[in-house]
Order: sequence, then structure tokens, then C-alpha cells
Amino acid sequence: MNKYVLVTGGAGYIGSHTVVALLQQGYTPVIADDFRNANKIVLAGLRSILGHDPLLYPIDICDKQALTALFDKYTFEGVIHFAAYKAVGESVDKPLEYYQNNLVGLINVLSLLQSHQVKNFVFSSSCTVYGEPKGEKEVSETTPKQLPESPYGYTKWMGEQIIADFHRSAPEIKLMNLRYFNPVGAHPSALIGEFPIGKPNNLLPFVTQTAIGKYPHLTIFGNDYPTRDGSCIRDYIHVQDLAEAHVAALDFLSKQQEGLLEAVNIGTGTGTSVLEIVAAFERVTGLTLPHVIGPRRQGDVIEIYANATKGEQLLGWKARLGIEDALRDAWAWEQHLAAL
Ligand code: UFG
Repeated sequence: MNKYVLVTGGAGYIGSHTVVALLQQGYTPVIADDFRNANKIVLAGLRSILGHDPLLYPIDICDKQALTALFDKYTFEGVIHFAAYKAVGESVDKPLEYYQNNLVGLINVLSLLQSHQVKNFVFSSSCTVYGEPKGEKEVSETTPKQLPESPYGYTKWMGEQIIADFHRSAPEIKLMNLRYFNPVGAHPSALIGEFPIGKPNNLLPFVTQTAIGKYPHLTIFGNDYPTRDGSCIRDYIHVQDLAEAHVAALDFLSKQQEGLLEAVNIGTGTGTSVLEIVAAFERVTGLTLPHVIGPRRQGDVIEIYANATKGEQLLGWKARLGIEDALRDAWAWEQHLAAL
């Protein structure tokens, strides 16, 4: 019998890698994605990797009727909810669109879990809920959350709050917030990867797009921070590891008899600075990456990385790949795109 899993945003960056991981582990993913922030190239990549078309419904998850029809059609083992806007800067300009899409989508999914007795739910949360860590830069799930800096951050913070309140009203459902650190890299086949629309906001796509010649140089946003080399430090997690974390989360939830709510950090446990990323990229590719030092970017967290022990203890999951693997795979993906 098929174990159907609804993957909202399954044609997106993390979603598409998770679809592959789910299929490899015996689940049958059902993608709900209206391609507003995904690209058909990823679909072609998925087809090549899987050897067939994935089950895909091009619906807007804010369209409750369309989403209900999907819950009527399939008996879902669980839902992995990725579909959301994710650009921090854009969220400042378009707060209502962010709240509308990210929160209404989440509420629709949660209410359908309840009405259709779907018991397992995994939410794409973010380390943004920790804000700028006070004191210790390594954060664990018990580190107090702080109010976010952007409407995007608020949608994740409020998303976790909505899930916590929902948990009290529907204690039989098993819920997990996966708090991602910085997802990077691409599938080792280079057939799927991150597809930023327009000028990338995130570091890695900017690095690879500069290396391929789309931009004359990378600007490093500040080298006067109180870190080992003056640039900001993040925990970069390979998207393949991240995808596997979702399968591990679903496996874990499926085995639980009682309802629960857990949050788990999905990071490597190691911090890497922006300048270290540049050096590692040059090492891995043998290229010289043109870069200049620019001013600080407003709202940037100085340093944060995961305490990743809970993921290992609770889910039996831990990151296997390092930053060099991620840079190699991201570069292969960028070259694949350039060759299309
Ligand atoms: N950076 C540069 N130059 C660039 C782009 C980024 O120096 O052109 C630096 C940033 O200043 C930062 C680091 O690279 O120090 C990483 O920046 P990203 O934009 O890639 O990632 P962030 O850590 O700022 O943001 C990520 C996610 C958000 C999430 C946040 C939580 O993109 O969705 O982590 O901390 F909210």
C-alpha cells in the first residue's frame, strides 16, 4: 500500500530534494506547488532522477477548496509543509503578502489535518526564531526564542506559535518544527538545486552566479564583526542532509503512539564565516572568486550555529556532508543551469 505524503512546495529547493529522499525511503510524495516560486527545470530534473513524473498538483495552498480536494483524494500518512515565501528583504516591502501566504497556507493545512485525521506533520521552521543569540552562539532547542527582525521571520515565529496552540486543541496529532540553519548545495546529480528568481539574496547562489560570470564580484557584507575573521558566521547545511532529516522526522512521527510537538535544529553544529566560504569555494573549484568588502547588511545576525544533538538523539539523524561537498554540488548545479 502506498504511503502518501503531501509535500507542499515540493517543487521548490528543499521540497524537491525531499521528494527524492521520500521516494528512496518508500514513501509516495504528492506535490502541491503552483510554481510561483519554483521552476519547471526542477521538474525536469526530478523526472530524470526518479525515472518518472512525480505526482504533482499545481494548486495554491491558500485555496482551501483545492487543498480540501487533495485531502479527499488521498489518505496521507503525513504532511511536510514547505510552501512559503522566504526572502527576508522582500518581506519588509510586502508584509501582507508574506503573512497572507505563509500563515493562511499553514492554517489551511493544519485544519485539514484535523478534519481528515492525518496524524503526522512536519513544518519548515528556521533558526531565525532564535534571533541574535545572546552570549553563547551555539543554540539548542531550549535556547529562548526572540522576536524576529522581519515579517518573514515573524511568519516562522508565528507559525510555531500557531502550531503550539493547535497542539493544545488537537493533542492527538504529532507535530514537528524543523528549524533549518542555512540550506546550501544541490543534489549530487546536479539535476536539481536552488533556483533563485532574480538577483539572489542568499550567499551561496550569489557565489556561484558570480563564479559563472553573472555578477562581476561578490560583496561581503561587513568584515568588522566580532568574529574570528570579521565576517558573519552561519551553520551551512547541505540540502541532501536536510532532505534526509525530513524523512527521519516523518519516520519518527509515524512510530509514535501519542500526539506530540517537538522542535529540532537541523544544522551541522559547525559555524563557517563568509570569508571561509569564499576560500573553500576557491579551494574546491580551483577558481578565483572576485570579491569586495562592503558595508554591513542591516539586520544580519553576527554568529549562530546549531547544537545538533537533539536531531541525533530523537531522530537518529545527523549531517553527513560538509561545506566542501555543498560548494562542489552547488557549483555543478550552476554549471548545469548554464549549459541548458
Ligand atoms: N552575505 C554576503 N554577501 C551576499 C549575501 C550574503 O556577505 O551577497 C552574507 C550575509 O551577510 C550573511 C551570510 O552571507 O552573513 C549568509 O547570508 P544569507 O542571506 O545566505 O543567509 P542568512 O543567514 O542571512 O539568512 C538565512 C535564511 C533566512 C533565515 C535566516 C535565519 O536565508 O531565511 O537565515 O538566520 F531567516
